[in-house]
Amino acid sequence: MIPPDARAAPPPQEGAVNGPAESVPWRPLDGPVRAPTPVERFLRPGTLQITALPPLALYVHLPWCLRKCPYCDFNSHQAAEGLAPQRQAEYLAALRADLEASLPLVWGRKITSVFIGGGTPSLFAPEAIDRLLADVRALLPLVPGAEVTLEANPGTFERERFRAYRAAGVTRLSIGVQSFDDTLLGRIGRVHDGAQARAAVAEAADAFDTFNLDLMYALPGQGLGDLAADLDVALAFSPPHLSIYHLTIEPNTVFAAKPPPALPDDDGASDMLDLIAARTAAVGLERYEVSAFAKPGHRCRHNLNYWQFGDYLGIGAGAHGKLSFPHRVLRQVRWREPAAYVRAALAGNAVSNEHEVARADLPFEFALNALRLRDGFALADFGARTGLPPSAIAAPVDAGVQRGLLARDDDVVRATARGFDFLSDVQALFLAPR
Ligand SMILES: C[S@@+](CC[C@H](N)C(=O)[O-])C[C@H]1O[C@@H](n2cnc3c(N)ncnc32)[C@H](O)[C@@H]1O
Ligand code: SF4
Repeated sequence: MIPPDARAAPPPQEGAVNGPAESVPWRPLDGPVRAPTPVERFLRPGTLQITALPPLALYVHLPWCLRKCPYCDFNSHQAAEGLAPQRQAEYLAALRADLEASLPLVWGRKITSVFIGGGTPSLFAPEAIDRLLADVRALLPLVPGAEVTLEANPGTFERERFRAYRAAGVTRLSIGVQSFDDTLLGRIGRVHDGAQARAAVAEAADAFDTFNLDLMYALPGQGLGDLAADLDVALAFSPPHLSIYHLTIEPNTVFAAKPPPALPDDDGASDMLDLIAARTAAVGLERYEVSAFAKPGHRCRHNLNYWQFGDYLGIGAGAHGKLSFPHRVLRQVRWREPAAYVRAALAGNAVSNEHEVARADLPFEFALNALRLRDGFALADFGARTGLPPSAIAAPVDAGVQRGLLARDDDVVRATARGFDFLSDVQALFLAPR
């Protein structure tokens, strides 16, 4: 999954590089006063106390697709003819330069997982993914057994490609199926049909020990029977992991300008979610996050790190990152347009915007992620990840418990079943008073 904040909050306008406001003079132990380097600025004292840095993941964004889907607001750009090897090589060089320039911010830390997302990463040849992962390994240590996920679209691969991705070091494939129904796929503008989706899943199941299927529901004209049929096909493959998203009409998409007819209403969508919950539970797929279902041992470690408010370095066009320092949390965004990104990254300036998360905003940012998890979070982890005392969220937690939206057992806070249904209301309790 693309980092969770990638859609929620559009980045500030490109070009406005928001370095931390202060740039106080700095006196290194071994020399005269001078302007601080970026790293020194992030290491200076502050009011947060993050005593142990969280796990660090790596997100790599590959921003091209064969065609732009009418509902999609991710940073994806059309490459109808696919990607010529030269274009792939140029982008890989930019990614490497981006990674090299980022190293001072993550010195001494190991990468716990890698997620190669898009766009459509499977437009890149296995040799290109091999080169990318070799560059990553050469520059940043990966923990032994690190999860390495690659997003793949049906209809963009040749037979044997999935095995070659595995040989390159990918350990987990995530396939964007959305539906197996040709009519529904046509209505949401997908380039592939149901047969190609089935072939892709069969090949993933054959080549990988663990894989994910992305499905969407509440599609134009979809009825409960259509969804049941999609679930039948998906579950017949015994997927270790399923991500199932309610189709949302995002601003600035083709569907926002011209909404498709016959979208299911709220009651219809709620019945669909009930069906999804019942069918997945019956086959041992546990709903561990709002949209994620997994068999034991197959939860996505990379996405769990986002939801647990871990750190991630995001490289590639438009990629978002979150990095912690002992006294601050930094958010970064890379240049969004691929050609601009390549130019800037090769010149050592891949980051278009960065800002420190304000102390007052940390409770909401934390809740936005952690309350998506069925298991919620431990108050101690809130303290460890934000550097704030538990008292910083005492009021919203009490309010949520009183309204039956949150449950608190000793140190653990989680959404109740009712809270899970009204999650944005629960998360809003954690907003800073304005
Ligand atoms: C960033 S996309 C990349 C996956 C891949 N390119 C694909 O589409 O097959 C990840 C997933 O987000 C989901 N998604 C994208 N746009 C959505 C929308 N408007 N509403 C709900 N889910 C959406 C889809 O399930 C998609 O597979
Ligand atoms: S294939 Fe995926 S990333 Fe590309 S436009 Fe469609 S939904 Fe967006």
